[in-house]
Amino acid sequence: MEAKKIPEVVLNSRQKMPMLGLGTAAIAPPSHEALTSILIDAFEIGYKHFDTASLYGSEEPLGKAVEKALELGHIKSRDEVFITSKLWTTDAHPDLVVPALKTSLQKLGLEYVDLYLIHWPLRLKPEAKGYHNILKENVLPSFDMKGTWEAMEECCRLGFAKSIGVSNFGIKKLTELLENATIPPSVNQVEMNPSWQQGKLRGFCKQKGIHVSAWSPLGAYKTSYGTNAVLESPIIKEIACARQKSTAQVALRWIYEQGATAIVKSFNKERMKQNLDIFDWELSEEESQKFSNIPQHRMYNGVSFVSENGPYKTLEELWDGDP
Ligand code: A2P
Repeated sequence: MEAKKIPEVVLNSRQKMPMLGLGTAAIAPPSHEALTSILIDAFEIGYKHFDTASLYGSEEPLGKAVEKALELGHIKSRDEVFITSKLWTTDAHPDLVVPALKTSLQKLGLEYVDLYLIHWPLRLKPEAKGYHNILKENVLPSFDMKGTWEAMEECCRLGFAKSIGVSNFGIKKLTELLENATIPPSVNQVEMNPSWQQGKLRGFCKQKGIHVSAWSPLGAYKTSYGTNAVLESPIIKEIACARQKSTAQVALRWIYEQGATAIVKSFNKERMKQNLDIFDWELSEEESQKFSNIPQHRMYNGVSFVSENGPYKTLEELWDGDP
């Protein structure tokens, strides 16, 4: 069966990015072998955009899956795939960026990533690797945004990243970054879903030519840190029922219609297929309107990054005033 074409957005770097990506983050990830096999399935189904990060431990299995997908003919060349990775906070220092990306590339077995993001606007102690070390006491006092971004730009110049961007940046931090950037960020990847719609931030990014990608587009349903506010929203359920779609499909379609790219995680083949099947129908004006009645709550408040010793002493400072 011919895989369905996923629409693409042209980033400010002129690179094209498929507007639906497969997330690979999991608190309790499967073994590397199991994840490689899941990701090969994703290639077979038609996914072309994969989101990994140094933090996730999924770079190696993803690299193996790319290799295998090429062998199996699910893709014809590396260029058909869009791969994002991210600089973990322990490496968010000017001298550490290029080496960190080289390590990621080595794990991926690739010569370049399509997009490299600063994962969070702060720096953790170098020894604080891994999810379990995301703790207040590991936040370092200063984050050299300007120097770190210059090193990200160097990654582009060296050809190790086709595009560069950020993640979890609010308006104030983006403004500061843009004031100093030679290469503007192409993407800001943030928590975005029907129950945390990010209207203000998206408006700012649109004005500045920065594309928004949505992490946890389904509210990280049934995970230890997730919410059921998206997939069990009565408003989304009602639309889904009337349209004979799943609540996940309606949520993902809404994100796409907002002009954002959903980075949706599923390691289940049927749900992966379902999540990709959102491009040949649309929400009516009336259905779209109903999304404005969904209660708004940030799912992941990042309180571990707020610290007396760190650059952000309050949640307001971490999120640039957004609640
Ligand atoms: P699974 O991997 O078992 O499919 P998010 O992308 O917002 O982080 O959400 C990921 C969570 O949502 C995972 O627990 C994933 O579980 C689940 N999920 C992904 N797609 C669907 C879907 N179509 N229906 C229900 N749950 C889904």
